[in-house]
Amino acid sequence: MNKLSIETTRAQEFIDQSSFEKLEKEIYYKNIDLDQKKGRGSDYLGWHHLPSTISTDLINDIKATAARIRKKANYFVVIGIGGSYLGARAVIEALSNPFAAYKTDDNPKILYAGQNLSEDYLYNLLQLLDNEDYALTVISKSGTTTEPALAFRLLKDHLEKKYGEEEAADRIIAITDASKGALRNLAGQKGYKTYIVPDDVGGRFSVLTPVGLLPIAIAGFDIELLIDGAKKMESLCSSSASPKVNPAALYALTRNALLKKGYTVEILINFSPTLMYFNEWWKQLYGESEGKEHKGIFPAGANFTTDLHSMGQYIQEGQRNLFETLIAVKSPKNKVIIPNDKQNLDGLNYLSGKNVEYVNQMAQLGTSIAHVDGGVPNIKIEIDQINEDSLGQLIYFFELAVAYSGYLLGVNPFDQPGVEAYKRNMFALLGKPGFEKETKEIRKKLQ
Ligand code: PA5
Repeated sequence: MNKLSIETTRAQEFIDQSSFEKLEKEIYYKNIDLDQKKGRGSDYLGWHHLPSTISTDLINDIKATAARIRKKANYFVVIGIGGSYLGARAVIEALSNPFAAYKTDDNPKILYAGQNLSEDYLYNLLQLLDNEDYALTVISKSGTTTEPALAFRLLKDHLEKKYGEEEAADRIIAITDASKGALRNLAGQKGYKTYIVPDDVGGRFSVLTPVGLLPIAIAGFDIELLIDGAKKMESLCSSSASPKVNPAALYALTRNALLKKGYTVEILINFSPTLMYFNEWWKQLYGESEGKEHKGIFPAGANFTTDLHSMGQYIQEGQRNLFETLIAVKSPKNKVIIPNDKQNLDGLNYLSGKNVEYVNQMAQLGTSIAHVDGGVPNIKIEIDQINEDSLGQLIYFFELAVAYSGYLLGVNPFDQPGVEAYKRNMFALLGKPGFEKETKEIRKKLQ
């Protein structure tokens, strides 16, 4: 069976055992708070038992929509920002062939928009789509976020001019709140196919709702296997809050015990470039869930061995406030054997006959030993292979662990009040109706 495992021995030597044991007692009660919905932000616990409760009807509906769209689109644009796109992108990029430039094996190529405000990005995207058959989903729980709303306005206009209003409407799927927001109203008026982001699931916890599942299904991946993987982790973790049984509890405890010793930065590491966006998803999940009230571990990410030649120096010898969490993958899906070379001018014949992953594994082991020797604690999370099942397990594992971690820190892991500050200033600067007072105030600051 594909099984996630966690190894913390290379972190334990940096931790005070007494603080670990104290946290172990606390987590028992935090788990009860979570189960009984008594903790902070308990209106947003819809993700907690999502894998075991998601309805077969919804899964079948998503699969039917995916099949319809896959027939007509070579490209599929996912419009969303933050939790409304990172989960889908993390899974799709982890499972995709990175060199597939165009529709392969009937899978549309997935593109992203609404995650930035770059004019050049949108110009280039529209230019590409001029000559391609495409469809899109616009995902916004609030239905009012500026970046996706703006990208959607441009792409809707583009689609309508290209295909006419009726066919354009058939190529648009809106995923938003059940009743509120500009997007819900627009979708209702235009007759788009819609899915609901459940009220009690925040954006960064929404990958196992239609927010993540629809794009993943359209990309050609098995959403049932993904949910099954998450379900396995849910069932394992709900049996006990003991770190001996529950890997999410062990991870949450270890990172919080490290924080108490001054390790304020966590770097999520991979040795598989397709996991790069998994790092991005994790950074958002942990950054938005923990970074508040002047608390929290700063979540960073690095892709090895690439970043060993950029960040490696700092990690080895810079400030000693870092720890690493490695996502290790036991085996690749494919084999590439290193050939023998008669002349051996590059001196690599000592590796002839070995597969590339063997070298990658030795780099992984060598790195973690070097970093631990250099004073960087290391937590290792291992999966057998990158596939739907293991990604489902990882998703649930990290979601539950951040809920435990937030509660151990004493913050509400399910809100993100800090994200509003830049929006307020941007609206004031743009002169958005309703922001007149803020406009006056910000103009004074600029004088
Ligand atoms: O995790 C979150 O809640 C946020 O990152 C949101 O997903 C992000 O701000 C986008 O919000 P919305 O889906 O309302 O457009």
